[in-house]
Amino acid sequence: MIRQDLASRWYKAIFARHSVRAYDGSSVPDGMRNEIDLLLDGFSPMCEGARAVLLEGGSSEILAGFLGAFGRIRGADLVLVLIGDTSYPNYEVAVGFLGEGIILHATSLGLGTCWVSGTYSRKAVEVRVELRDGEKVMAVSPIGFAAGHSAEAHLAEASLAARQEQEVRGKAMEASTGLHKRKPLKSLVRGLAIEDWPPGYPEMLEAARLAPSAVNRQPWRFTVESDRIVVSAARFELLPMAARRLDCGISMLHLEVAADANGVQGEWEFLGNPPAVAEYVSRRRDL
Ligand SMILES: Cc1cc2nc3c(=O)[nH]c(=O)nc-3n(C[C@H](O)[C@H](O)[C@H](O)COP(=O)(O)O)c2cc1C
Repeated sequence: MIRQDLASRWYKAIFARHSVRAYDGSSVPDGMRNEIDLLLDGFSPMCEGARAVLLEGGSSEILAGFLGAFGRIRGADLVLVLIGDTSYPNYEVAVGFLGEGIILHATSLGLGTCWVSGTYSRKAVEVRVELRDGEKVMAVSPIGFAAGHSAEAHLAEASLAARQEQEVRGKAMEASTGLHKRKPLKSLVRGLAIEDWPPGYPEMLEAARLAPSAVNRQPWRFTVESDRIVVSAARFELLPMAARRLDCGISMLHLEVAADANGVQGEWEFLGNPPAVAEYVSRRRDL
């Protein structure tokens, strides 16, 4: 369970977050940095096997050396480094879960972020972060203020995000894509027909659908039963299983945030039969 105040903030941030690759170079105020610092060692048992470090400086060496499909990432004040401890069997999922919680928190503070697992210099990270035995760097994210992001642009985005949140309630299967290019829910979900989904499940699945993933592959599938949602990695993907599991962890964070923000109570259980990853088992709610 994620703390209620965080869950409500992060739920809104799900609809507003998008990858930001150009930053204005300004500093992130100490108050915001301190809030992010509090999350680095985790905020739920699902983060076990992952930790994060927030680096000041070094973003140009870490991020600017590559020209990816989207161009260079420039001008970020901070770099979030996401580290997995390979002695934990579910460390990739934990990294996705932890990283996305921190990213949604940064989004809720008005900061830009972008998951980066390909286009960064691992060497430039490793000279700045001391890794313990069994640990490896899995991804990074720039954190800072988006370039050319006027107050009006921010407001317009927030109101589009609010509209999307509203739409989720009525039209789960066909919800509009708005800020996000995503597969429709009907191609991701199996199991119970939508009319039979328990309260809260449409919001949870829509939030899971909107999660970011490497090259936007969205390699997650959901099976809905009367009291649970099983999350599995897509079977046929060029991405390695470790990358798919990390993406599933990101989507699982969205799913749980939506559960917590919509009054659904439940717990995660990891599953040992790949490509199944974990299931969220919900208790009946007495609202
Ligand atoms: C695990 C992961 C790794 C990613 N790696 C990169 C990367 O190396 N370079 C990049 O420019 N974007 C990267 N992205 C960003 C995705 O391209 C982006 O999240 C996706 O296209 C969806 O767009 P959105 O984040 O704006 O919703 C990554 C995203 C995730 C979740």
